[in-house]
Amino acid sequence: MTAATTGPSPSAPSPSAPPAPAPLLTAAARERILSLEGTDLPAYVYDLTALRAHAAEVRAALPAGVELYYAAKANPEAEILAALGPYVDGYEVSSGGELAHVGKAVPGRPLAFGGPGKTPAEVTAALEQGVRRFHVESLHDLHVLAALAERRPRREGEPRVGVLLRFNLPLADASLAGSSLAMGGRPTPFGLDPADANTAVRLLTDGGHPHLELLGVHAHLASGLEAPELLASAESIVAWSTDLAARHRVRLAEVNVGGGMHVSYAEPARRFDWQTYGAGLGRLAAAHPGLTLRIEPGRALTAYCGWYATEVLDVKDSHGEAFAVVRGGTHHLRTPATKGHDQPCTVLPVEAWPHPWPRPSTHRPESTLTGQLCTPKDLLARHVPAPGLRAADRVAFALAGAYAWNISHHDFLMHPHPTHHFVG
Ligand SMILES: Cc1ncc(COP(=O)(O)O)c(C=O)c1O
Repeated sequence: MTAATTGPSPSAPSPSAPPAPAPLLTAAARERILSLEGTDLPAYVYDLTALRAHAAEVRAALPAGVELYYAAKANPEAEILAALGPYVDGYEVSSGGELAHVGKAVPGRPLAFGGPGKTPAEVTAALEQGVRRFHVESLHDLHVLAALAERRPRREGEPRVGVLLRFNLPLADASLAGSSLAMGGRPTPFGLDPADANTAVRLLTDGGHPHLELLGVHAHLASGLEAPELLASAESIVAWSTDLAARHRVRLAEVNVGGGMHVSYAEPARRFDWQTYGAGLGRLAAAHPGLTLRIEPGRALTAYCGWYATEVLDVKDSHGEAFAVVRGGTHHLRTPATKGHDQPCTVLPVEAWPHPWPRPSTHRPESTLTGQLCTPKDLLARHVPAPGLRAADRVAFALAGAYAWNISHHDFLMHPHPTHHFVG
């Protein structure tokens, strides 16, 4: 059989053709996946050279003054955090666990601590670790931070603790329609309600909390938006924030417009339009001199650099359709189950078959790839064009570099965990 892939196959470049789309599987990742022992599978394989090249492109598309923080929740592997180091201004962390881990993986780099429901222990740890930028999600969150910051002795010349008030701002309905995950513009537990804005600003500016400094506003409103919608959202966040600052006669130093750049699992070669987004952010920054704009993407930075690689254990027909059961499943790669999509993949044929009995295979042109879990929800990819798929062939599921291993329910059914590999 021949290698099958659900994404575009690379073709020979011609001088007038636009640049070839990024391949669904890089040569380095393919080589590593094929060189792994069967006992190493399933495996997460990350191509750090591909990650660096992509991050460099993203950075180059952003205007010089726009800051880029990586949302560590997308993939906190230490090697990933370190590889992104030269291209990012800092990292956004959302728990005490991320705070400790990221602080160790990329020591000395700026961290912004956000997330709803921060505990006093987590806030104390962040203050002790030297975090000076907090995304405050409620009036209570603000009071906790103020009380803990005031309890710490402040050395002469030490900067105050910076606060960005995270707001759940209204978003145009058209923007929300395209979003796969809306965190703002509708009732959610994220950020302060705009109705609390005046109270929050007064608490930070009436002299009652001298250890805190209001730096600005944070708003991560939705995930999965294309560049025009995300730009419109950034423009409305900045307009709302400048208006708030003007009403209170305070300086607005920073606005963080969040992450949420679209990643297409159906068309993996179509990537977020960073050029358009960067140019729009440049216009926005130019219209607000003295204001630092910041973004904090996760998925669109790291999704493309990771693969979940495994092997076909069994192939069978069921009621007229072919199913291939692979080693592992959605307890290792939960993304297709949570988002309800088919994970793009590449089949890597393996010729060796060590058993004396017939090798399970399909005569059908396509197979549905499932995992080992005892639930019909354990679907990795439906109707994959893979004629002649056989047991022992390998499969590399792409776009597994973000919200993949770290969001999965690893121990359901107690299968062994995947091995992890970094190439490049
Ligand atoms: C506060 C915050 N910032 C940034 C992100 C990153 O979003 P994305 O991975 O969609 O870019 C998230 C994701 O949930 C988030 O909650």
